[in-house]
Amino acid sequence: MLTQQLRIGTGFGAHSTADDVLAGIDLTGTTALVTGGYSGLGLAATRALARAGAHVVVPARRPATAERALHGIPGTEVHALDLADPESIGAFGERFLGTGRSLDILINGAGVMACPETRIGPGWEAHFAVNHLGHFALVQRLRPALAAASGGSRVVSVASSGHFLSGIRWDDIHFRTGYDRWLAYAQSKTANALFARHLDGLGSGLGLRAFSVHPGSILTPLQRHIPREEWLAQGWVTPDGKPAAGFKSPEQGAATAVWAATSPLLEGHGGAYCQDCDIAEPATTEDMLVGGVKPWATDPEEASRLWELSAGLTGLDAF
Ligand SMILES: NC(=O)c1ccc[n+]([C@@H]2O[C@H](COP(=O)([O-])OP(=O)(O)OC[C@H]3O[C@@H](n4cnc5c(N)ncnc54)[C@H](OP(=O)(O)O)[C@@H]3O)[C@@H](O)[C@H]2O)c1
Repeated sequence: MLTQQLRIGTGFGAHSTADDVLAGIDLTGTTALVTGGYSGLGLAATRALARAGAHVVVPARRPATAERALHGIPGTEVHALDLADPESIGAFGERFLGTGRSLDILINGAGVMACPETRIGPGWEAHFAVNHLGHFALVQRLRPALAAASGGSRVVSVASSGHFLSGIRWDDIHFRTGYDRWLAYAQSKTANALFARHLDGLGSGLGLRAFSVHPGSILTPLQRHIPREEWLAQGWVTPDGKPAAGFKSPEQGAATAVWAATSPLLEGHGGAYCQDCDIAEPATTEDMLVGGVKPWATDPEEASRLWELSAGLTGLDAF
């Protein structure tokens, strides 16, 4: 049954790290896959999952960079995958399924933010294409491995409180009438939340549960497209360049995704949007640092409509 957006009281919070939420959890014998698992929050998640005993597969659009980032972390492996390229996703899926492995944990963490207007394939807007459609296609390709996990599987979409700024723009999803980099990011993050919600409904009969998370605010290479002066104007850094109050470390930023992927407290739950290592409440503010979830990111009809659209665009609907 779909989980209500109500805190459950987990004992963890904004300051908890990925290692904290994994304390006492032994992931030996499990396989996890973390997209973007070689940078920022994804790297912190990969490290923590590997330390807890999981074997972590890290698909990368820059495999050599990923190999360097993961050097010396036992139990990790890198494969080529570009989420902007449907053929690359298909080839990766075949390679993974070809190993005969099941997949216990999938963290869809890769993403781009506020990049200049970029068109992909048939003219898709890049945030929607990479952050949402790429992960949609990846999950479709990996369905047999997720369904084969003996203890059930979890899929976590790394969304964002950035979803506050936009629901799905049904009349102009690809920004053909004018581009706005923040609205493009926001729409893609709403899509991440809606995707997890609908996937959970389709997957629960297979033992697959899905969640979306807001990781918090963390300075990482994600902000690469934003000029430094804007970091100050946005309130991300103090005048001396330090992360602003309320910002998390990458290890804290990875905690909610890792918690959603592994916590026994979430058994029987699914489809919910989480933050600070708990299920998020409906948003009562416009302040993204406070967070919560907006109604357009949890609406079941929006989720179903997005699924249909995504299946049509990618030509994939394995569930
Ligand atoms: N940092 C924050 O404050 C924050 C807040 C809310 C939500 N989030 C979300 O958290 C997730 C992780 O962000 P982060 O801060 O850890 O950023 P990051 O350090 O930039 O990591 C993003 C990762 O995504 C990968 N990626 C981008 N495009 C890709 C593509 N086409 N194919 C495959 N991989 C691709 C990047 O690969 P390359 O290194 O090769 O480019 C990188 O490894 C994102 O989904 C982001 O929206 C972050």
